[in-house]
Amino acid sequence: MMMKKKKEAAAPLSPTPTPIPGKKQKAPPELLRGFRDILPDEQGRFTAVRDAARAMADAYSFDRIDLPMLERADVFLRPLGKNTDVVEKEMYTFVDPSGDTVSLRPEATASVARAYINHGMLNLPQPVKLWYEGPMFRHDRPQAGRYRQFHQVGFEVIGVPEPIIDAQLIIIASQMLKDLGLDVTIQINSIGTPEARTAYLTELVSYFRPHRAKLSEDDKKRLQKNPLRLLDSKDPAIQELLAGAPQIVDWLDEDSKNHFMKVLEFLDEMQVPYQLNPHLVRGLDYYTHTVFEIWLAGDQGERAQNALGGGGRYDGLVELLGGRPVAGCGFALGVERVAKAMAEQGLTPPLRPHAKVFFAQLGDAARRVGLKVFEEFRKADIHVAEAFGKNALKAQLEAANKMAAAYTLILGQKEVLDGTIIIRDMESGAQEIVDVNKVVSLVKKKLTNAPEIAVPATPVPVQTDIPVEVADEEIPA
Ligand code: HAM
Repeated sequence: MMMKKKKEAAAPLSPTPTPIPGKKQKAPPELLRGFRDILPDEQGRFTAVRDAARAMADAYSFDRIDLPMLERADVFLRPLGKNTDVVEKEMYTFVDPSGDTVSLRPEATASVARAYINHGMLNLPQPVKLWYEGPMFRHDRPQAGRYRQFHQVGFEVIGVPEPIIDAQLIIIASQMLKDLGLDVTIQINSIGTPEARTAYLTELVSYFRPHRAKLSEDDKKRLQKNPLRLLDSKDPAIQELLAGAPQIVDWLDEDSKNHFMKVLEFLDEMQVPYQLNPHLVRGLDYYTHTVFEIWLAGDQGERAQNALGGGGRYDGLVELLGGRPVAGCGFALGVERVAKAMAEQGLTPPLRPHAKVFFAQLGDAARRVGLKVFEEFRKADIHVAEAFGKNALKAQLEAANKMAAAYTLILGQKEVLDGTIIIRDMESGAQEIVDVNKVVSLVKKKLTNAPEIAVPATPVPVQTDIPVEVADEEIPA
């Protein structure tokens, strides 16, 4: 729980603004480290992830919940665990002007549990199945795939202790990523009940104590405060020691073992690829029984720090926050990580639907009519692009070509007076003059009959030398 006072190196700015001679330049505001703008060229992938989540939520009957980004710090402190990295080092916690100690949410599961209690969801038919998306905040050390503001899509099921829920959530997560074009494996483990964990921890500490000298200062602290975290230490010395360390699955009681076995059987049944990972413990205290992470297939070691998602069961969380004891299970995917994996694999979903029609105008009267034409096309669900900043027809046709429009509508002063408009087929250059009131239905027919055009990665060569009937000279002064 902290706000670093130390001034950190500024994120590089691009592009560098060109200095205006003779004018004293004010430095433009800088982005905070670990924060970023998600620019239009990345939005295609972000939208695809959110759409995939929404589609899954609909298919599996999850209801949407939106939670505040700022909560009382207590919502996170105990549930996530006082000695966890997230609470100890990464929370944006401060006293707000009302004197309340508040935190920017580092994750949303604790907020979902709070909302479940606050809104008496226990009285609803169980399970309560909720999904969310939005930004989370962790004052983590920024690096590739790790930000201080990042986005998650998450799914939570509260009210059912059955192992089929754990399996179904894992299926949803891996299927969603498969639909996005990514091959993943599930890393899975069981950490049992808090009682089993306490007994195991005693054993783990006795195993590591004779090797204390080999541990880094951080790991020495972990051994004392949160020994479970030693299991996912990246320190090679610990990794070596871990080979001989006791494994938590051997400390599970019969019920926990059965629960875990059933989860694995369901996954086998559905042929979901998974790897048993005895060192997977996850960084948050609220977990019980099944814990899992979603890794890109083939990722191991270092790269696996960039898990695409993670989750597990949290049967004690609602009670910990003051509610009645009720089971819960869920997962969240990191949208930036998924988008990055998609980019690395050359997956480029479109930013938005491709506009197959371009509107070119010559003069103000045409612009005025153009506003109406745009609305008519919108109502017909046909996307139209334009370049209102350009006056010359040649420049507008070049823009239409760059956007790979199939048809350009050309409207000059003469057409405005006649109540007509020109439809230009951008491939053949053929043009026809039509009644402006019929243009939407005519274009719709052409688009329905035309073969699907591929949007070229590089613009096709421009053919602006094909004569058009409307001359630039007709532009009214
Ligand atoms: P988590 O493992 O802390 O779990 O986060 C889930 C995912 O969020 C990670 O696998 C990763 O993809 C992404 N993520 C986490 N931190 C960062 C970061 N600093 N920058 C970029 N992406 C990041 C949770 O948050 C749990 N609430 C998941 C859950 C839901 N468990 C049960 N229900």
